[in-house]
Amino acid sequence: MTGSEPIPPLLAADGVVRSHLSGSTLIPAVRGVSLRIDRGEFVAVTGPSGAGKSTLLHLLAGLLRPDEGELRLDGRRVDGLRESAWARLRRRHYGIVFQSGNLLPDFSVADNIELTAVLAGMSGRTARERRQELLEDLGLAHKAAAGPGELSGGERQRVALARALVNRPELLLADDEPTGNLDSRSARDVLALLSRYHEQGTTIVLVTHDARAASTADRVVSLFDGRIADDARVEEPPASRRAVGVRDIIDFGG
Ligand SMILES: Nc1ncnc2c1ncn2[C@@H]1O[C@H](COP(=O)(O)OP(=O)(O)OP(=O)(O)O)[C@@H](O)[C@H]1O
Ligand SMILES: [Mg+2]
Repeated sequence: MTGSEPIPPLLAADGVVRSHLSGSTLIPAVRGVSLRIDRGEFVAVTGPSGAGKSTLLHLLAGLLRPDEGELRLDGRRVDGLRESAWARLRRRHYGIVFQSGNLLPDFSVADNIELTAVLAGMSGRTARERRQELLEDLGLAHKAAAGPGELSGGERQRVALARALVNRPELLLADDEPTGNLDSRSARDVLALLSRYHEQGTTIVLVTHDARAASTADRVVSLFDGRIADDARVEEPPASRRAVGVRDIIDFGG
């Protein structure tokens, strides 16, 4: 170490390509994405349905492997890692919310959150405290004993978010529009919670069509047809210009 070496980005994708096999047809989903996400950034990913947002998030989480291109986590090549190594990285460093939600169907809301923490090595007592804190922050305390089958779509999304946040991950990847199905007050609460984690240092990549969510981010990456069509820093414009800027971003291609 010379002391002058640049700090590598937390995540870097370089020329990443990935197709899906549908029957015997290859469907290109991500067609060459280069992206660098620095520690502490809050990046909103937008773009129309089918643009490749979920595929990109799965690639960044090691749940899909690139057909071409390179992926680095903290400067280290990870696109060739074995599944067990990826699983360990995810457990230690990632919080992930996917569109499918995937809650454990036979466990209560409270246990869904607490078990995630215990499985990651947290003590039972800390896991219970974290679980309670998140239930309250996300307005779910009254649903603690309910099963996932007894929840609305928006409530399920919030439980999935609580599970992703319970270990205070360095990196949160969220792809189910945690604010999407919510009334405006709950959406505001979720965004306020994400902002708080962001302020405490969590790096966030959030897929969203929601203008409020995008304007909470530092940066908006727009995908179109598997490529990055725009990558814009959200400045802190005066309130009068802000609404216009956000509308410009969200209207893109969608
Ligand atoms: N498992 C799969 N098998 C086959 N094709 C897939 C699969 N998953 C995604 N695709 C295709 O890949 C392309 C990108 O899909 P992706 O799910 O990444 O889009 P998205 O931007 O997340 O869309 P949405 O906003 O609807 O969630 C689409 O053409 C989609 O139909
Ligand atoms: Mg998607």
